Amino acid sequence: MSKNVVILGAQWGDEGKGKIVDLLTDKANAVVRFQGGHNAGHTLITDGKKTILRLIPSGILHKHIMCYISNGVVISPDALIEEIAELKMHGINVQDRLRISLAAPIILPTHIALDQAREQLLNKAKIGTTGRGIGPAYEDKVARRGLRMGDLLDSNRLKSALQSLTEYHNFLLKNYYQAETVNFEQLLEKLRQQSEILSPMLTDITEQLHKHRLEGDNIIYEGAQGTLLDIDHGTYPFVTSSNTTAGAASSGCGVGPLYLDHVLGIVKDYTSRVGSGPFPTELFDETGIKLAKKGHEFGSNTGRARRCGWLDMVALKHSIAINSISALCLTKLDVLDGLDTVKICTHYQYNNAEFTSVPADCKLYESVTPVFETLPGWSQSTCGVTAADQLPRNALAYIKRIEELAGVPVNIISTGAERKETVILQNPFSSTADSF
Ligand code: GDP
Ligand code: IMO
Ligand code: MG
Repeated sequence: MSKNVVILGAQWGDEGKGKIVDLLTDKANAVVRFQGGHNAGHTLITDGKKTILRLIPSGILHKHIMCYISNGVVISPDALIEEIAELKMHGINVQDRLRISLAAPIILPTHIALDQAREQLLNKAKIGTTGRGIGPAYEDKVARRGLRMGDLLDSNRLKSALQSLTEYHNFLLKNYYQAETVNFEQLLEKLRQQSEILSPMLTDITEQLHKHRLEGDNIIYEGAQGTLLDIDHGTYPFVTSSNTTAGAASSGCGVGPLYLDHVLGIVKDYTSRVGSGPFPTELFDETGIKLAKKGHEFGSNTGRARRCGWLDMVALKHSIAINSISALCLTKLDVLDGLDTVKICTHYQYNNAEFTSVPADCKLYESVTPVFETLPGWSQSTCGVTAADQLPRNALAYIKRIEELAGVPVNIISTGAERKETVILQNPFSSTADSF
């Protein structure tokens, strides 16, 4: 029987999704990226070798599987071709095992220019986007004026659609943002060349996924960004421009929600965030610096420093509810080694009243005060531990407390960046389980 597992970030991104998708791919036949674009940076470390993926699904290192980029993803042909070439240099043949949706919107250089011009204009109020054109590309999709990957297959259609879109973008760039415009002819010529590389990979991904399903294959639906960056349910406007939550696996692939069997939420046992926006448990002290240093909290894609803080159960419970998370994978346990105490935010306070949900209003969210529960830390190293009975008692108690508060089990614990540095209590693709 086919099993369809969604793997997504339960916080503000960089939870370790890439590592876990790569790890669980050994029991899958297909991995599909369902939203986002090359704003993502997913890090895989296998036998000391680091691979950072932005668009290509994190199953690509396993030679037995097919990888898909679905209609929910926005694709920069430049970024995709660069990533394919990088992987090829490392001996990974992507072209035979990657298929791309004909319906995926295209990110053009003008989208990138608009993204950057807007951020510049916003100045101190900026969102802190990755500057990759994600927002403007999704805007054009919703406005029904964008180009899709399928347009690359018809040279004349490509020309007329690109001409009207670049005219519109260049008008905005020149007259509203006083920014550099982009040359249409050069862009058209480049896209025509890129189309020769990409065309053989373009297909109907929805049809492919249903074929897998009907053949009994296991499928991983890989999310990007994190739940609190969701356009509808995140900390708007400090969010990305797509739905990052579990429903997007369905709409982003054309696989109905009742075909999805399991939603695995990846959560760091502390919190990080890149860019602007509310972050109630953010630490501005020595501990915050320690977490950032030990956790190497620098963007795998943009290199920006990530803001760090304690685990926030209010945000996590919001995430569990809106994603229907079946189980959690707790990552970076080793980063908390050696702390005297560890803290979990159980609720917020605002105007002397208790708050146990994530306020939809961002201004209000910026004003809440976190209330913490303090637990004893552990001095023993958990780095690289692969069995629960080898974890320190206080680390286990910390995980148990998270489970209790979350109301869903912690089925996987990550103890290092390497693929094998993981405790698997219950693999979503198997029916047997261990407990701790
Ligand atoms: P993603 O975007 O969710 O895939 O996460 P990133 O790859 O951007 O960031 C996670 C970072 O933590 C990467 O550098 C990983 O190599 C690293 N990482 C993942 N799991 C662990 C872990 O359990 N312990 C440690 N120390 N690092 C980890
Ligand atoms: P992964 O998949 C962390 C953040 C940006 C910014 C906001 C909007 O590696 O977890 P965008 O360029 O999407 O318009 O920026 O979203 N952001 C991420 N933060 N990890 C990511 O991806 C992110 N992708 C976007 O920093 O705050
Ligand atoms: Mg990342």
